[in-house]
Amino acid sequence: MILVTGAAGFAGSRIIQRLVEQGAQPRALVRSAEQAKARLPQEGVEVVVGDTTRPETLGAAVAGVETIIHCAFITADRKEGRGAHYYQTNVEGTHNLLVAAKKAGIKRIVELGGLGTQRSTPTSYMETRYEADQAIKESGLAWSILGPSIQFGKGAAFFNGLADLIRSVPLITPVVGSGNLRFQPIWVEDVATCVLKMAQEPENYDGKVVEVGGPEIYTYNEILDMLMLALGRHRFKLPGPKPLAALGARVMTATLPKPPITPAAIELFNFENTTALDSVSYHFGFQPMSWRDYLQKNGVE
Ligand SMILES: NC(=O)c1ccc[n+]([C@@H]2O[C@H](COP(=O)([O-])OP(=O)(O)OC[C@H]3O[C@@H](n4cnc5c(N)ncnc54)[C@H](OP(=O)(O)O)[C@@H]3O)[C@@H](O)[C@H]2O)c1
Repeated sequence: MILVTGAAGFAGSRIIQRLVEQGAQPRALVRSAEQAKARLPQEGVEVVVGDTTRPETLGAAVAGVETIIHCAFITADRKEGRGAHYYQTNVEGTHNLLVAAKKAGIKRIVELGGLGTQRSTPTSYMETRYEADQAIKESGLAWSILGPSIQFGKGAAFFNGLADLIRSVPLITPVVGSGNLRFQPIWVEDVATCVLKMAQEPENYDGKVVEVGGPEIYTYNEILDMLMLALGRHRFKLPGPKPLAALGARVMTATLPKPPITPAAIELFNFENTTALDSVSYHFGFQPMSWRDYLQKNGVE
């Protein structure tokens, strides 16, 4: 039995779908039954409603499970507030899950983490990701961690946030820093394939952090150009120093229910979001999808 946490989310729902297609009868931990109904297959999956920040809800989720695929995180694109707190979910929630897992005799956990996760300033978003990784590595369970670059696919937060920014501001699009920082977009379905290999081939991945990205690397400016082309909206790109971008993100986060960019997302501009171009074929043995090809075929969705 595989338990997927964050199962109604962008990546978790794709992982569940793939497990159902395999006939694996996965269990899905979700915070909302309604959301699960809308986002998950109606059959072949066992849905358990729970919340990693409420340990008393986790017993039913972990009972009888062999491997956990842990995707329940508050990601940088989400603003904090109303059930979305980076520290409570990423650090305390992961800790609660590990305690429940050990009590239930679970042997393995696969974490869907992020590329470039590193020690950072206390209370920062990145620090919560680092602490979650450390807790998993030190848990005593067998573990593996996948660290993907930004993900694309239907409903992808990073690309939809940028598309909203392009659509909502006339004439110009503000750029974080020079716009020369590089990203290596990877398709959410390819991420699901990698995570499932990690979960189902422990002999190849136990005790490993594997960073992955798609087959092409783009600067932030190139990503904006390609999105503008796909949306049919030309804007002048206006570079701004990172502190100014951080200020803008704080203002948008304070005033908008769903800001296109958050202060936590600005932390992702502190390092190159790239790894080896052949990371997926080298570690997982298949060719990942190109974002350019995907965008040409599907547009921004
Ligand atoms: N998307 C990307 O571009 C990207 C890139 C690299 C790495 N990643 C990593 O991939 C993982 C999954 O991200 P995602 O893009 O799928 O994010 P997502 O769509 O926001 O999914 C996260 C899921 O976790 C759930 N969750 C949050 N707090 C929870 C809690 N306390 N208890 C139980 N469930 C909780 C959320 O539930 P609700 O639906 O109820 O909010 C949501 O369904 C994260 O570790 C992320 O950092 C994502």
